[in-house]
Amino acid sequence: MNKKVMVITGTRKGIGRYLSEYYLAKDFIVIGCSRSESDLKHENYEHFCLDVADEKAVKKMISAISKKYGKIDYLINNAGIASMNHSLLTPLSVVEKVFKTNVFGTFVFCREVAKVMSRKKFGRIVNFTTVAVPLNLDGEAIYAASKSAVEKLTMILAKEFGNYGITVNALGPSPIKTDLIKNVGEEKLNKLLSRQAIAKFGTFKDVSNIIDFYLSDNSKMISGQILYIGGVF
Ligand SMILES: NC(=O)c1ccc[n+]([C@@H]2O[C@H](COP(=O)([O-])OP(=O)(O)OC[C@H]3O[C@@H](n4cnc5c(N)ncnc54)[C@H](OP(=O)(O)O)[C@@H]3O)[C@@H](O)[C@H]2O)c1
Repeated sequence: MNKKVMVITGTRKGIGRYLSEYYLAKDFIVIGCSRSESDLKHENYEHFCLDVADEKAVKKMISAISKKYGKIDYLINNAGIASMNHSLLTPLSVVEKVFKTNVFGTFVFCREVAKVMSRKKFGRIVNFTTVAVPLNLDGEAIYAASKSAVEKLTMILAKEFGNYGITVNALGPSPIKTDLIKNVGEEKLNKLLSRQAIAKFGTFKDVSNIIDFYLSDNSKMISGQILYIGGVF
């Protein structure tokens, strides 16, 4: 298998869909997943319908990929959900849902894919956080807390996987116009943008630019890093 094999989570729409098409255009084999079916048709694209927090289903998916291709080069843990609400109005069921997808899902994919990567002593894992973490955004306590956990996972897994030739990094988009933020009011978005060094919306290209950097052959010494879009620190 000469082609690069990439697993991306949350590929039905938004950033994950863009990344699938972007890396398919680079002649990668892309294996995606989401809870609903995808309408992406491409000879090098395969879709699994699953919830990223369903450990059994994830294990089955990764085992099938490993059997078919014998390796996984890259994992992009993009699937994520948000809860943009005041804590006083947030039921525990929502907290559970957000943590299941964002934290448990990211963890189980990192663990299962790293097992496959470790056999080849090579792998690149990219996780997704958000600028809501460094900005400590009010109204996003649960979302930001879940992504803080993703950041800590990223840093510690970078250490645990380092000896297996696997790097683990994360990127934190600033607001990008997808369904994830469609219900956030204009005033709130403008307030958020004004706190960035570069007060603009992020783009899909900003995301793939950072991922390209993390995946580069020259980035083998880059691990445990968190890079935010828009000049947020
Ligand atoms: N857009 C932004 O402004 C922004 C800013 C900062 C960070 N981010 C991060 O960027 C990532 C992508 O966000 P986006 O804006 O592209 O969101 P989006 O447009 O809402 O897309 C989310 C994708 O994830 C899938 N997904 C959600 N929950 C899932 C689950 N439990 N299991 C499997 N798939 C699941 C969805 O498909 P199904 O519904 O079919 O499952 C969909 O394909 C997320 O991690 C998000 O936190 C986005």
